[in-house]
Amino acid sequence: MKFITVDTYAKMSRRAANIISAQVILKPDSVLGLATGSTPLGTYKQLIDWNEKGDIDFSQAVTVNLDEYVALDSSNNQSYRFFMNKNFFEHININMNNTFVPNGCAADLEEECKRYDENISRLGGIDLQLLGIGHDGHIGFNEPDKYFVKNTHIVDLHESTVKANSRFFSSEDEVPKRAITMGMVSIMQAKKILLIASGKAKRDILEKAFFGPITPEIPASILQLHPDITVIYSED
Ligand code: PGA
Repeated sequence: MKFITVDTYAKMSRRAANIISAQVILKPDSVLGLATGSTPLGTYKQLIDWNEKGDIDFSQAVTVNLDEYVALDSSNNQSYRFFMNKNFFEHININMNNTFVPNGCAADLEEECKRYDENISRLGGIDLQLLGIGHDGHIGFNEPDKYFVKNTHIVDLHESTVKANSRFFSSEDEVPKRAITMGMVSIMQAKKILLIASGKAKRDILEKAFFGPITPEIPASILQLHPDITVIYSED
């Protein structure tokens, strides 16, 4: 594991964007696993900037996102599909047909989970998975539990996650209580993992996840077993 500490969010974002762009330059048809949340916004901005300058080309890239709220469709500005389109995809030269986000409005959610995993397998798995980390150690929406969940699945969000995410909604009541998330198999089978985190409030959970015991109570701790993971933490 490479654990890199930098002093500013801007430096974290730049380092992360560097790793993603190196991946896409070396393998233009890379499958990128992508994340939502506030942490990756700076990374996406940097990649957009380099794409505009012609330094990175996403025309052959494929993306698979980690998760989506149940019952929010793509036109809802709180859905993760909306987030990805607005903060990244609309600003780069990617083929929208090659961007995949779970469909939280599917009539049969169990079937959607199966379909999502089959699609990742069909694509040959993920080359580089970008991750954030929740204050409770979740990755994607894999919440602390008694066991690690292997495949894409429907999850009941923990109260702390609903609370943390309520900052994006006008009230806590509006935050969906269920989500669809990639499971640990697709994440752990990614050839490379890049986890980014910023701010002192994340320090404690990073310490537990990467230097403590491997336990489903802290889902990110399983990443200690991954052979090629880089963590970039910014202190500010
Ligand atoms: P954040 O979310 O980037 O908004 O802190 C991270 C996460 O919950 O995975």
